Formats: sequence, C-alpha cells, structure tokens
Amino acid sequence: MSETPYVQLLEATISHLEHLRSQGARHVQVTPGVLQELVTTKGTPDAPVRETRPPAPPTPSRPAGSPLPSVRTGGPLPTVKPFAPSPTPSSTRGGSPAASPSVATSSGGREATDKGAAMEGLRERVLACVQCPNLVAARKNVVFGVGNVDSPLMFVGEAPGADEDLQGEPFVGAAGQLLTKMIQAMGLSRAEVYIGNVLKCRPDTPGQSYGNRKPSPEEMATCLPYLREQIQIIRPRVIVALGATAMEGLFGRAPVRITGERGRWKDFEGIAVMPTFHPSYVLRNQSMETKRQIWEDLLAAMERLGMPISDKQRGYFLKAG
Ligand code: URA
Repeated sequence: MSETPYVQLLEATISHLEHLRSQGARHVQVTPGVLQELVTTKGTPDAPVRETRPPAPPTPSRPAGSPLPSVRTGGPLPTVKPFAPSPTPSSTRGGSPAASPSVATSSGGREATDKGAAMEGLRERVLACVQCPNLVAARKNVVFGVGNVDSPLMFVGEAPGADEDLQGEPFVGAAGQLLTKMIQAMGLSRAEVYIGNVLKCRPDTPGQSYGNRKPSPEEMATCLPYLREQIQIIRPRVIVALGATAMEGLFGRAPVRITGERGRWKDFEGIAVMPTFHPSYVLRNQSMETKRQIWEDLLAAMERLGMPISDKQRGYFLKAG
C-alpha cells in the first residue's frame, strides 16, 4: 500500500482513537462541520485530512454555565477557575468566578469567549499544518497547547517528545510531570495556566525509535508564527520560558545560555518573560541549588502576578540551617 499523506493521517487518527479507547474513552466529540468534512474527504483520498485527532466542539455554541468536556483528548479547553475574578465580575467561558482567587485573569467574559473561539480556529489550522514534511511524516499527533486561554500565566517549552506526540498534549512525559508539580507548588493546576511549545510537532529522529532532538532553526522559524498567535490570543501577563530553546524561539536569537539568562525578566512585545531552566534539565541535575533556582524564578513570576505566597512556599528548596 502506498503511504500517501491521506493514509498516514488516517492511520494516525485510528491509532489515536485506539489509544483513547485503551484509556477508557468511549465517546469523542465531533462537530457537524467536521463530520461533513470527513464525509467529503472519504471520497477523495488524496485530499488533505484536516485533523489527526478528534476535534473539539465549537466553544461559542456551548450554553453559558454548562461544563466543558475534559481536555485529555487535546480538544476542548478544560473547565477552569480563573486565578481570580476579573475586576468587573465576569466568567471565563461560562464558568463562575473563582471561589479562592489569587491573581486577576487577563480578561473578562465576552473577551474570553472570543479568545476561546480564536484559539479553536487557530488549533484547527495548526492541526492541519503540513509545512515540515519530515515532521508530518513522523508525527502521531500535532501537539497544539493546552490550558486556560484566559490565564495570566503561560509556560512555553521547546517541542513535544515521544509521550506528548503519542498523547497530543504538551508536557505529559517525565519532564511534564515535573512541570505539573512545579505548577502545583505555585498553588495552581495545569488547567489554570496555558502550556505551549515553540514547535507543535515532535522533531523527527530518523533511524531511531527513541530520544529527542532539538528543533532546527528552520523548523522553529516555520512554527513560531503559531506560538506568536497563541500568545496574542491569550495575552498573558507573564510567560515562563522553559529552557534555552524556548528563549531562542521567542526572541529569535541563538545560542542562548540559559544559566546566564535565567531569573532575569525580558520583554516580549509588552509581556514579561521569565527565563528559567527546562524541567528536563532539572531531572538530569537534581541538586538543591538547581531546584532552588527554578523555584526562585517561579516565585518571581508569582510576585509579578500578585499571587499570595506563603512562608512555606518561600522556603521550598532552601538548605536547612
Ligand atoms: N519538552 C518540551 O519542551 N515540551 C513538551 O511538551 C515536552 C517536553
């Protein structure tokens, strides 16, 4: 059988659905528009398939106040409580304002709905992207990004690894689990922040079935407009850039020595950027000093966002005595 892009994408879709089923999912949400598109595509095998994963239901048609579906499929955005109610009481994507606020969200309800719709539109375009043929051929999923589009805090990483490629969600492997713990140490959940990468596809590793490689400058330049659009939609107050590649992608300057740049605020088009270590570096270098450094960078982000910080939080990873 010739491996046309259509067949590759079809197989990736089937494998993703099987993966979901193995995790216990019994339903996926498909919009009428996409169903129609699938019917059309069926008769024309060489036509590009727009998605490798089940798409999200359209945000605007969701009744106000109704819960959003889970984010595990990488589709719809999760139900989240914002860090704090907006100055004028309003909800994000139909949810009620948070009961335990800590910092203000970046926008009000109407704008949040628009943000959700804009992000969905962008997501559909990114999932259909075929600009890097080597990455398209190797990927199992496009890893778009996940979280609260109305969050004042965004994390930017490098590129999906094998686990992320399989699950279609950023930062779900070992480094991702550490990132999740760091977010929780800040008093937040993954669903309250937005997490994205410079590259939306896993850098291919021809001839080897394991390991990761750094994205090439060309791949970063090709994919960066998508990250910029994500940032423009979210307009977070703070971006935490995870590692040198995230900084190189954001600022178009290489090489970045993250040991020299971490902990110093930068400006990305009016948004405060805190460079810090990539969690995978922390996994490789488990010294108290490294953990304290990354934690100090996160404390700085919390301070900038006006989040409450407990004495216990201030003391994390300080040597006793
Ligand atoms: N490393 C990253 O930079 N991003 C991911 O999504 C996973 C690992």
